Amino acid sequence: MILPGSIRGNLTLKKKLNQLSEAKLKGYNKERLKHSKVLYEASDKILLLGEGNFSFSSALCKMFGNGSNVWATSYDSEDVLKQKYSDDCANHIEFVKGCGGKVFYGIDGTKLEKHRKTFLLAHNNEAKEQEGFVQNSFGSNFRNTNEIFFDKIVINFPHCGLGIKDQRKNILANQKLLSGILKSARSLAHPKTGQLHITIKSGLPYELWRVAALAKEEGHWHQTSCIPFNPNLYPGYEHRRTLGFEAGISSSQNVEIKEKYPKTYVFSLSSNVTSKNTEAAKNNKE
Ligand SMILES: C[S@@+](CC[C@H](N)C(=O)[O-])C[C@H]1O[C@@H](n2cnc3c(N)ncnc32)[C@H](O)[C@@H]1O
Repeated sequence: MILPGSIRGNLTLKKKLNQLSEAKLKGYNKERLKHSKVLYEASDKILLLGEGNFSFSSALCKMFGNGSNVWATSYDSEDVLKQKYSDDCANHIEFVKGCGGKVFYGIDGTKLEKHRKTFLLAHNNEAKEQEGFVQNSFGSNFRNTNEIFFDKIVINFPHCGLGIKDQRKNILANQKLLSGILKSARSLAHPKTGQLHITIKSGLPYELWRVAALAKEEGHWHQTSCIPFNPNLYPGYEHRRTLGFEAGISSSQNVEIKEKYPKTYVFSLSSNVTSKNTEAAKNNKE
């Protein structure tokens, strides 16, 4: 585990942000968002972890006009989820399913190996429904498959939400979550194309989670880029907190994340990293 060590970089960022007037800050953010881009295509087989109200999955389905490659999961059970996000999750889930996407509850992003069977079953059932044949990830036709891989495994704003007051313990708990995701996502990442995307807020305490260092420590992921996350690129996406949503109390319309300059860390399996994307990483790295 990487302990929260030097915070020099974060203090520099904080100082920089404090020095900027609000107008300048807006300009700074606008400039920064020019580098944001949609990271997903309809042909990518995408596994979404830790969905809140399922609005991100539903935004992807809307964007693609199809959800057949969208596999959306929540950590919460269906009952808990529907209590926490009673305002809108049911509509989003219905939309994802209506587009042909898949929805799973109770999926622990740190124990994906354990859930492989569930995913395989869904995959093979779908294959059966499609007249018994499916093009597997390697391009050949098989009735059934013993493997399932994703091109993009995505978690937006992972947070264990334990409400730990002690900042150090809180950081460690979230680092444990991230390390678990980095470790377990490897088993479901496509050996050739697999990427893991982790989006988090900037500033403190998030910088102290040290996502990039945790990935290095895990050893199989290589950071290929780190780009600003612009929620406006995903119409209909509304960020939710781990604890749930309460109208009039919780912030809506992504106000909370927009203020925190979120960014997406893109990791590829080290075995697939070419000198070309290493070069790209040098230009993008934070
Ligand atoms: C701040 S919320 C973000 C929700 C959603 N991704 C969004 O962008 O609105 C953090 C999410 O991380 C999820 N989470 C916590 N522990 C997890 C785990 N072990 N595996 C998968 N998700 C987890 C929570 O259930 C919660 O939905």
